[in-house]
Amino acid sequence: AKILVINGPNLNLLGSREPQQYGHRTLQEIMEDLERFAGACGHELTHTQNNSEGGLVDTVHRAASEGIDYIILNPAGYTHTSIVLRDAMIAVGIPFVEVHLSLVHAREPFRQKSYFSDVAIGVITGFQGEGYMLALQAIVNRIEP
Ligand code: DQA
Repeated sequence: AKILVINGPNLNLLGSREPQQYGHRTLQEIMEDLERFAGACGHELTHTQNNSEGGLVDTVHRAASEGIDYIILNPAGYTHTSIVLRDAMIAVGIPFVEVHLSLVHAREPFRQKSYFSDVAIGVITGFQGEGYMLALQAIVNRIEP
């Protein structure tokens, strides 16, 4: 299957950005592990990061035309604000797992609301970079029951 990881704003700063919340690993390090694991399971994984809302919407539209089967999505700050990105996910209908590195439920009240959780396959939050691997494992298990 074709799996795409979409990362939202500021996640390009992983490694140096608030490591107590987000961990010490860089986005590149986390994504390389995923690519390796997906490849070993016979799947094709690509990843992308974008700091703008419109850019993320374009990425989701492109995913549909490229025949992506599953998405792992960390909308970052747009989790709590973006109706347009939610609408894009619903429009393309590609099943997705929502991931957050930090435990959003233990943070500020404005992070308690997600525009994505009710339309996701599931949500993984609080396991720092490992959360992406847990999401990938869930998707792989779903592909091969
Ligand atoms: C985040 C949580 C969001 O609240 C925050 O705005 C982020 C990252 C996470 O991965 O923990 O940028 O999505």
